[in-house]
Amino acid sequence: MTAIAMVTGASGGLGQALARELRQAGWQLALVGRDRERLRAVFNAGELCIEADVSTPEGAGAALAQCQRELGVPTALAHCAGTTLLAPLHRTPAEQYRACLSANLDSAFFTLGAFVDALREVRQPGAAVLVSSVVARIGVANHEAIAAAKAGIEGLTRSAAATYATSRIRVNAVAPGILDTPAVARIIGNETGRTAAAKQYPLPGIGDPADLARLMAWLLSEQAGWITGQVWAMDGGFSSVRPLVR
Ligand SMILES: NC(=O)c1ccc[n+]([C@@H]2O[C@H](COP(=O)([O-])OP(=O)(O)OC[C@H]3O[C@@H](n4cnc5c(N)ncnc54)[C@H](OP(=O)(O)O)[C@@H]3O)[C@@H](O)[C@H]2O)c1
Repeated sequence: MTAIAMVTGASGGLGQALARELRQAGWQLALVGRDRERLRAVFNAGELCIEADVSTPEGAGAALAQCQRELGVPTALAHCAGTTLLAPLHRTPAEQYRACLSANLDSAFFTLGAFVDALREVRQPGAAVLVSSVVARIGVANHEAIAAAKAGIEGLTRSAAATYATSRIRVNAVAPGILDTPAVARIIGNETGRTAAAKQYPLPGIGDPADLARLMAWLLSEQAGWITGQVWAMDGGFSSVRPLVR
């Protein structure tokens, strides 16, 4: 029987790259997004596209339930739904803060919860990978709301990994620097912005979502079977090294 992987935020830049990677690795996919037409435009007709807003417990539960009904219980979860937000604390209205927390942290909390419930019911092992960000690990100006949301995801990762280790459910996260996806098109969509962004990194450049997708697919695979509770950075060294300033 082919193992089933659920990908949230599947119509986004990272979600699409990861769906390609997991498909190649032989997983059967359940692709989740808030707009079925958007998913249909990206994926072929044979694949299960689930319309759900996973930032609510009801939406996350409904996505898992539909996957179970139509394919079976997923043993892998890649939670790619999320946003970015470039705004200082004093210019972040309450609604924008709440939307950021909802899209990133609530969605991770409720989707991981529904995934774990489904696995525990059938007493199966499994693996989840969540998406944090470089801004959770090192103070980056003008990122307070997204930094808070992503730091929450890292705490969630470690605690859930501890709670469910005895059920053989692994939980890891990745923490990328800027990635070439629609989420940051406004920042790197022109040559000046792209060059300026690339220069911020010790290894200058913009992250390729396909590279991160390979890391995530590996974390979900049996090759990473003894790895849990970890946050893997892919950020050109931004969060860990300081090159010599000339
Ligand atoms: N791009 C970067 O530079 C960067 C850097 C660090 C971390 N990340 C993280 O990487 C992940 C993937 O982002 P991406 O770069 O692939 O961005 P993207 O292309 O904008 O895709 C993100 C997807 O998340 C879904 N989404 C957005 N808001 C949502 C909400 N409120 N509730 C549920 N789903 C929502 C959207 O899907 P639907 O509209 O179809 O539902 C969207 O396709 C995110 O967690 C992001 O925070 C990105």
